[in-house]
Amino acid sequence: MNLIEKIKNLKKEKDAIILAHNYQTREVQEIADFVGDSLELARKAMNVDAKIIVFAGVDFMAETAKILNPDKKVLIPSRLASCEMASYLSPEMIDEYRKKYPEAKVVLYVNSTATCKAKADVICTSANAVEVVNSLDSNTVLFGPDSNLAAYVATKTNKKIIPLPANGHCYVHTNLGVENVRRDGILMVHPECSIELQKIADVVASTGGMVKFVAKSNAKRFIVATERDMVSRLARDFPDKEFIPAWSNAICLGMKQITLSNIYNSLKDEIYEIEIPEDIAKNARRAIERMLEVK
Ligand code: 13P
Ligand code: SF4
Repeated sequence: MNLIEKIKNLKKEKDAIILAHNYQTREVQEIADFVGDSLELARKAMNVDAKIIVFAGVDFMAETAKILNPDKKVLIPSRLASCEMASYLSPEMIDEYRKKYPEAKVVLYVNSTATCKAKADVICTSANAVEVVNSLDSNTVLFGPDSNLAAYVATKTNKKIIPLPANGHCYVHTNLGVENVRRDGILMVHPECSIELQKIADVVASTGGMVKFVAKSNAKRFIVATERDMVSRLARDFPDKEFIPAWSNAICLGMKQITLSNIYNSLKDEIYEIEIPEDIAKNARRAIERMLEVK
């Protein structure tokens, strides 16, 4: 029996489901029951009818699934699958900024730790950040940890957006500079990229937003300015169109820790289980649910 068949058998036997992010390799996407962006995955996690969720993505995504499903077993196949951006923000920094701007609300990008989420007023993803910010009654918003997404939101709202911290970013997206990006097709740019790159884009969108944009477009050739494997997702959905990574070195090392072989081990040995202390999970859940009420 090959590895794919073994994974399929174990999924049935253990009543498990595999959720995968759009940045996973094509073979991982193909074995998954559902592939999506951060928001789609969070929503899907809430409606999963299975005992075990195996999360093919990075830590904050698996944590979000666990926070929304405290009674389910949520597994991440590798402890090294983590999002570097989340480490730019600590709970202490949030406390400090809150003291400095007592009138402000705190909006945290889902790419943050559970402990930070527990201190936020509301969470957002890149698919709903503008709507979440505009839903607040405060005119000043502390937004973190991605300063590029904060800059994007600032161009779409009348509210004052203060990045928290000033330098939070994703190395994969900030290395996609205006100078190393191809321009020989419709340019789709993720809002984690620099504002300079966002300005020359044909569309700025979350990974799920890119899928929706392509579905509506008559164009045949797209340059994809985000993690390289986004083209795997797009090529699967739209085999008649051409997708080119804006820069072939845009690779998220955290995402690439997930492989067919560690998915198999994860299912077999039920490792590595995500556990979040209930006091943190409770407050983080409130902030995530607030987001899900908005969009
Ligand atoms: P999306 O929500 O657009 O999938 O983005 C998640 C992410 O980590 C981008 O780097
Ligand atoms: Fe985090 Fe960047 Fe990887 Fe997205 S691409 S998971 S923001 S490190």
